[in-house]
Amino acid sequence: MTDFATVGAAYATHSRTGRGRLRHDLVARRVLAELPAWPVRVLDVGCGDGEMTLRIAAAGHRVTATDPSALMLGAAARRLAARPELAPRVRLLEAGVEDLFFDGDQFDAVCCHGVLMYLDDTPGSVTLLAGLVAPGGVLSILTKNREAIGFREALSGDCASARRLIAYGSDTSVGTSAWTHGGTRPRPSTGSWPSTASRRWTGRESGSSTTT
Ligand SMILES: C[S@@+](CC[C@H](N)C(=O)[O-])C[C@H]1O[C@@H](n2cnc3c(N)ncnc32)[C@H](O)[C@@H]1O
Repeated sequence: MTDFATVGAAYATHSRTGRGRLRHDLVARRVLAELPAWPVRVLDVGCGDGEMTLRIAAAGHRVTATDPSALMLGAAARRLAARPELAPRVRLLEAGVEDLFFDGDQFDAVCCHGVLMYLDDTPGSVTLLAGLVAPGGVLSILTKNREAIGFREALSGDCASARRLIAYGSDTSVGTSAWTHGGTRPRPSTGSWPSTASRRWTGRESGSSTTT
């Protein structure tokens, strides 16, 4: 399992880059477009330093943000402290997706962005997340798909590794540690990399249909 105490800094640096900002802007716009104009309950699983949490709270929604990494949650708490007007709408909890327990309570939207590819049991995690979505609610998952293999190597100019990974359809690439540990392979969602999938929960078991 990836230790975010060590990659947290790299993640924060990436978030500040043009590409990182664009990613957050695109994902936030997509998620907020799915949410109603009135305040709703949102769960941000694996919230990291709170980027999405703060954006969704700034749009007026009540956000419960969870992350198992004290380092990442600390970063989120510091950012929240700098936005006191949002504090009444944000709750931070130190928990991994496998520890989430809300006593049967559900949320109008559940977000899990940039997390699944680090987990071993992807189908189990998606099922758990879906169970936290209230009927008519939204499940928003952002994860890597197969097309991502070699992408980051290419971006960092390491074309030889990128070509090798793509050519051999390697199971290993940056940020896909779940695959290197024989974890279940995340099924690619629709669309090219990165892909954002949101699904409106109708309250019945509906497999993996997505609206993109
Ligand atoms: C790449 S960051 C993504 C942060 C944020 N969701 C985003 O979209 O920018 C991945 C986050 O997943 C968290 N994480 C690691 N293991 C987890 C688990 N088992 N359950 C939930 N989150 C986890 C890490 O601590 C880290 O903050």
